[in-house]
Amino acid sequence: MARHCALIAGVSGAVGRALGKYLAAHEDWEVIGLARRVPPRSLDYPVISVDLTDAGACRAALGELKNVTHVLYCARAAHTAAVREPIDVNLAMLRNLLDAIEPVAPGLAHVHFVQGSKVYGSDLGPYKTPARESDPRVGEYNWYYAQEDLIVERSRGRRWSWSASRPHGVCDREPVPRSLAMVIAIYAAISKELGQPLHFPGTAGSFHALYQCVDATLLAKAIAWISTAPACANQAFNVTNGDLIRWANLWPGFAGFFGMKAGPVKTVRLSEVMTDKAPVWERIVNKYRLKPTPYEKTAAWPYGDFNFGRDYDIMSSTLKLRQTGFRDSIDTSRMLLEHLGHFRQQRIIP
Ligand SMILES: NC(=O)c1ccc[n+]([C@@H]2O[C@H](COP(=O)([O-])OP(=O)(O)OC[C@H]3O[C@@H](n4cnc5c(N)ncnc54)[C@H](OP(=O)(O)O)[C@@H]3O)[C@@H](O)[C@H]2O)c1
Repeated sequence: MARHCALIAGVSGAVGRALGKYLAAHEDWEVIGLARRVPPRSLDYPVISVDLTDAGACRAALGELKNVTHVLYCARAAHTAAVREPIDVNLAMLRNLLDAIEPVAPGLAHVHFVQGSKVYGSDLGPYKTPARESDPRVGEYNWYYAQEDLIVERSRGRRWSWSASRPHGVCDREPVPRSLAMVIAIYAAISKELGQPLHFPGTAGSFHALYQCVDATLLAKAIAWISTAPACANQAFNVTNGDLIRWANLWPGFAGFFGMKAGPVKTVRLSEVMTDKAPVWERIVNKYRLKPTPYEKTAAWPYGDFNFGRDYDIMSSTLKLRQTGFRDSIDTSRMLLEHLGHFRQQRIIP
């Protein structure tokens, strides 16, 4: 019988999907997913469809979940072009979930929530690197701070402990839009079809700066570790592959994978130049008899702009996590090529 029962909020997202898959493969864990839309792909566990912004709907949908021992919170009300992730909505989502689950799940032992390097102001401009979990807050109050304050305050006097993970640049071998591997794959396939070399679409500064990623499965394993190891209770942990890259060093390898010439940096806004490329993608799908992926579900172009657009080092120390005994690491360059190879083998890309 499973020792833990995880309720994974945001189970269809880049982080939650991989977490569900990882835990469902381990007999220690029973998994229940949660999102507004139930993912169409068949999963090894049930998924509850509920809008976390609706407190009443949460109470109605979660009222029977008395066996839940771990809330693993990976949901996110997204930012728009103009606004950072909204604080009020993201806070209400987490609060509604806790309000619904706490009274019905007497064995609730732990609440984990996923943050990111925006905790250190990585989205605001050059920041202190390598970032450490003990670094002071920077910039304006944001949704990560608000959620952390809610959880820390609420856990006082309760039987459950909390933890947070702070990943950066999540990459998955499955075709999810908010994954850098998918952004690179679809951008490269379309560039090749248009007879262009593989330009780096971000800024020159970003091409040469230090950068970090995390494999979604490694992150899932780390979340499982952090959420169950007593030494990790009531703390936050940076989680990355453990190495650092520069896109300038990896780009020729991607060009080689696609049989293209590696072009120089050509800064564009992917969210602008890629919006009208659906017909090109359709042509590619037909020409190479690929599994049809609707163009809007291929790659999250604003996510690509964000990740290729920062002219400064992005670097988190993972010392704290390693010192708790979690020692997994991945070579990011090889990981990305492996993900691209998997997309090709799955006939997602030519
Ligand atoms: N992806 C990355 O590279 C990355 C990097 C660093 C940190 N992070 C952090 O990791 C966490 C998860 O990010 P992600 O990239 O996995 O996000 P994502 O791909 O956008 O997924 C968000 C998830 O939340 C669900 N959701 C959104 N609004 C909801 C609502 N009102 N009610 C119920 N479910 C809702 C979505 O499903 P529905 O839309 O169907 O509801 C989806 O399952 C966030 O804290 C993010 O900041 C991600």
